[in-house]
Amino acid sequence: MDATENRYSLAYKQIAKAANDTLPLKKLVSAIAASAARGLQASGCAVMLLNPRREYLDIAGAWGLSDLYLRKGAINARKSYPDILDGKIVAVDDIYTDRRTQYPEQAARENIKSLLGAPIIQRGEVIGEIRVYTREKRRFKPNEKDFISTVANILALTLEKIELAQDLNNRHQSNITQQKRLTSFSDLPLAPIRPVTFGHPSEEEFARLLDFYQVEWLYEPRSFPLSSQDNRITEMFTPDFYLPEIDLYIELTTSKQSLITEKNHKVRRLKEVYPDVSIKLLNKGDYLKLFARHGFIPLGESKMTGVQRYLFSKTQIQRRVKLLAKQISRDYQGRELVLIGILKGVVCFISDLMLNISIPVTVDFMAISTPADKSDLLIRILKDLDTDIRDRHVLMVEDIVDTGMTLNYVLNNLTARKPASLKVCTLLDKRVRRLIDVHLDYVGFEIPDEFVVGYGLDMGGKYRNLPSIATL
Ligand code: IMP
Repeated sequence: MDATENRYSLAYKQIAKAANDTLPLKKLVSAIAASAARGLQASGCAVMLLNPRREYLDIAGAWGLSDLYLRKGAINARKSYPDILDGKIVAVDDIYTDRRTQYPEQAARENIKSLLGAPIIQRGEVIGEIRVYTREKRRFKPNEKDFISTVANILALTLEKIELAQDLNNRHQSNITQQKRLTSFSDLPLAPIRPVTFGHPSEEEFARLLDFYQVEWLYEPRSFPLSSQDNRITEMFTPDFYLPEIDLYIELTTSKQSLITEKNHKVRRLKEVYPDVSIKLLNKGDYLKLFARHGFIPLGESKMTGVQRYLFSKTQIQRRVKLLAKQISRDYQGRELVLIGILKGVVCFISDLMLNISIPVTVDFMAISTPADKSDLLIRILKDLDTDIRDRHVLMVEDIVDTGMTLNYVLNNLTARKPASLKVCTLLDKRVRRLIDVHLDYVGFEIPDEFVVGYGLDMGGKYRNLPSIATL
């Protein structure tokens, strides 16, 4: 055996051993990455898995690469060497000048020159990629391509083994949770595995919420250097989440004041140094309220009993609804309008609105699942429209827009049905809590960040029949 064969043989031995071990996902994959890099005498290796929408790559494990390089930003599998996604092995002689390199500057800083990438294929479908990097410019030879392709195959089998084990565990867990009352969002069945280790349980809960509303997320994909001295980075910030569809970073904070102050500072600094980056700081407490509204008792921290303060009286609401109806009647003069409401919070508002609109209208309703519908992992339509809205003028009527996630889902769904026009009217707008910016054409009242009930709005099914709007 020559030296290369010896190296490959040793690498295969180590990889097979790691694959058969019971290490946590990240450690196991990193061990395989290390052996693969050593086998090819390379300086680094990363194993990445496609996220559920098969567009971005999450780092599952790596070896020999700096944290800053691994967290260089979202890796889009369709932009970064897309041939790998098509099942091909890709060899890049010069990463810096190759057009398919998504982050050439970062590669130059990491001092990596060439790359060999292979798809990880499970049952004919690409589920991820392995990429090996070298510090010298290298033309990869056929035996090196065979080697990486074999490692990718072993990875595919190993990941399948882990997935099967998780699946069994999930089924066991959901049997248990079906028998008891759900008390927290984390009692929901787990989404398919992702190679993510969350730093805090509230981050995992938040990820599940995004999953439910089908909002794509990446966990800590980018580290931002904030200050440096003599070419050394002295301050860095890695926001918890990135939502690629809306190009927004999110940092969750806990209720600990010292941490909030520090995070506020980092967010402010990030905005200064990277003015083009959008970031939002979300308070964990706010998100517990979000879980509370779905009828969960979030970690015992939500205390909502009894009406506290009246925000809008019956008369104030009626006056505002009449004005909205007048404006709508004027804007849609000469056209026929379809009003669509989402059950059930909207019932009072849509009936009053309809009674005050002076042009011809038809009305229809949809019902959408919420995370409280226990068995659903994803938001879905429980009751669809009876009306075909193609080429019709549609006005979505909402009781309240909070994070905007429900409305975002519904608007995407309705747009696909090709209405002649689609606008939104909401009675209440909790703008300060918006996560997904949806355009609102008619707004009754803008309200502060408080949980409100009455005039159709509920808390755990109660208070809908309160004629005014109040906080709890
Ligand atoms: P979003 O998806 O976060 O915008 O939430 C929209 C839905 O959450 C609304 O249609 C309501 O059903 C519910 N919701 C949000 N905030 C409140 C509130 O303060 N009181 C009652 N329901 C709310």
